[in-house]
Amino acid sequence: MTSTISASKVTIAPDYAHLCESVADRISARVQAKPNAVLGLATGSTPLGVYKSLVQRFQDGALDFSGVTCFNLDEYYPMSATSPHSYHSFMQEHLFRHVNCRRWLVPNGQAGSDAQVAETCREYEAQIAEAGGIDLQILGIGRTGHIGFNEPGSPPDSRTRLVSLAPQTREDAAESFGGLTHVPHQAVSIGVGTILEAREIVLMASGAAKAEIVRAAWTGSVTEHLPASWVRTHRNIHLYLDTDAASLL
Ligand code: PGA
Repeated sequence: MTSTISASKVTIAPDYAHLCESVADRISARVQAKPNAVLGLATGSTPLGVYKSLVQRFQDGALDFSGVTCFNLDEYYPMSATSPHSYHSFMQEHLFRHVNCRRWLVPNGQAGSDAQVAETCREYEAQIAEAGGIDLQILGIGRTGHIGFNEPGSPPDSRTRLVSLAPQTREDAAESFGGLTHVPHQAVSIGVGTILEAREIVLMASGAAKAEIVRAAWTGSVTEHLPASWVRTHRNIHLYLDTDAASLL
């Protein structure tokens, strides 16, 4: 028999499938309680099972996204939205082409002058604010400790901006780009400050490769050397792990 253990802030699921169901339950509950909820969404391999479950719930008639607004954390730079490597394409493929969400936004990764990029970053922040702020922010964690693409050194008051990707982050993305040389060096990411303004945060991690960074983020110092550690300063943070990711806690 498998069971999901839930302490106040930490939920440990027996495996990836149960982890994703638990996070999808939390998102569903939020959308059912507030049909015009604003969700902050993440890309990467970790939330894939969550999106699969949300699509299934929508197809079963159990979930309605028609009033929901979604903001994604980040986008590679430079990156055209229509590129198969863009996070815009990722979200379309894994969630939005399957459900009835009418308003979903991903940071703009189109190349431009510094001033144009800065302006689109300000616009993204303004769009989040105009939507009423993020009700529930879903996060993965990178092996560098990044949340969004806020790599080590990102301060807690950082906002949406152009960032440089850490070497390890680029290496982790190399396979999906068909080689390291094709991975962009930069990205547009919402800031740690933007993330911490969400009313509720779910940080999820799966697999043994994340165990050490989860341990450091959850039990080490709260520091800009490890941006994910900032989530511990949030009053409504929930950590969702499978047993492998939780193995060093
Ligand atoms: P992953 O990425 O889900 O592909 O492991 C997580 C992240 O970089 O935030």
